Amino acid sequence: MTPPTTFRTDAQPASVSQGFGDSEIHVWKSTLDVSDAQLEAFARTLGPDEQERIGRLRAESDRIRATASRGLLRHILADYTGRQAAELSFTYGQAGKPELPGTADSARLYFNTAHSGDLLLVAVGRAPFLGVDVERIRPVARWDRVAQRAFSEGELRGIEAFPRESREEAFITCWTRKEACVKAIGEGVWSAFSRFEVSVEPGEPARVRLVDGDEAAAANWSLYHLEPAPGFVGALAVQGTGWRLRTGTLQTLEGKS
Ligand SMILES: CC(C)(COP(=O)(O)OP(=O)(O)OC[C@H]1O[C@@H](n2cnc3c(N)ncnc32)[C@H](O)[C@@H]1OP(=O)(O)O)[C@@H](O)C(=O)NCCC(=O)NCCS
Repeated sequence: MTPPTTFRTDAQPASVSQGFGDSEIHVWKSTLDVSDAQLEAFARTLGPDEQERIGRLRAESDRIRATASRGLLRHILADYTGRQAAELSFTYGQAGKPELPGTADSARLYFNTAHSGDLLLVAVGRAPFLGVDVERIRPVARWDRVAQRAFSEGELRGIEAFPRESREEAFITCWTRKEACVKAIGEGVWSAFSRFEVSVEPGEPARVRLVDGDEAAAANWSLYHLEPAPGFVGALAVQGTGWRLRTGTLQTLEGKS
């Protein structure tokens, strides 16, 4: 399957949630720069734990983004679950991954989110292990030292295969791929980064090469390269194969500008 590199703009959660199949994975993008009225409406949907966590953030800009992020997540999940945004509750994994609580219903819904700057991505599907990441392409201080610490030899060789001026972007791309894998299993960057080796060579499709050194285990993972907006790169990792990926931009909520 050819990985999508851009996001469609013609889909809404309401339309895609009808007939949401077991093999479908949807990735939504949205701006976090919502209107004041929208922000107030979102704040009213948050649970006490979310309000408390957001209240502890020092910078007002962080509180605004976090409120928008959780509000948008609830808005999306409400559509898929047919419940009210404020009714939803989350459980948290040992490294903080939020999930919808389990039900006896076999059609359990899973999700994962990532944000960078004012951009939010939300991945939704029936796959228990799915993770998404996004990063703004920007200068990263001492990126080569970070790569030496965090990446495998194969990944470092992949980055070196790029012309010098493109290596920093290749570093960010590789980072998003590994972080998406780690988020899929609900772990943390420093505890589980080394478990996954991903492709990063020029012209090479995104894929997981090794999981705990094992190629066969890696073959049971799907990795998608995402270019959700100019200046941003991202990745979606899903355990299993044969997924049908759809991407969309939330249109119901316009940014301020
Ligand atoms: C999880 C982690 C990879 C997220 O990276 P990040 O670049 O800061 O943030 P992103 O924008 O990619 O993703 C944030 C979202 O991921 C989700 N998330 C949080 N923890 C997660 C985890 N362990 N796995 C998957 N998803 C997670 C949340 O939805 C969060 O959004 P929120 O701010 O609305 O709650 C990173 O913070 C990390 O490595 N954490 C490890 C923490 C840890 O090990 N804790 C141990 C506790 S004892």
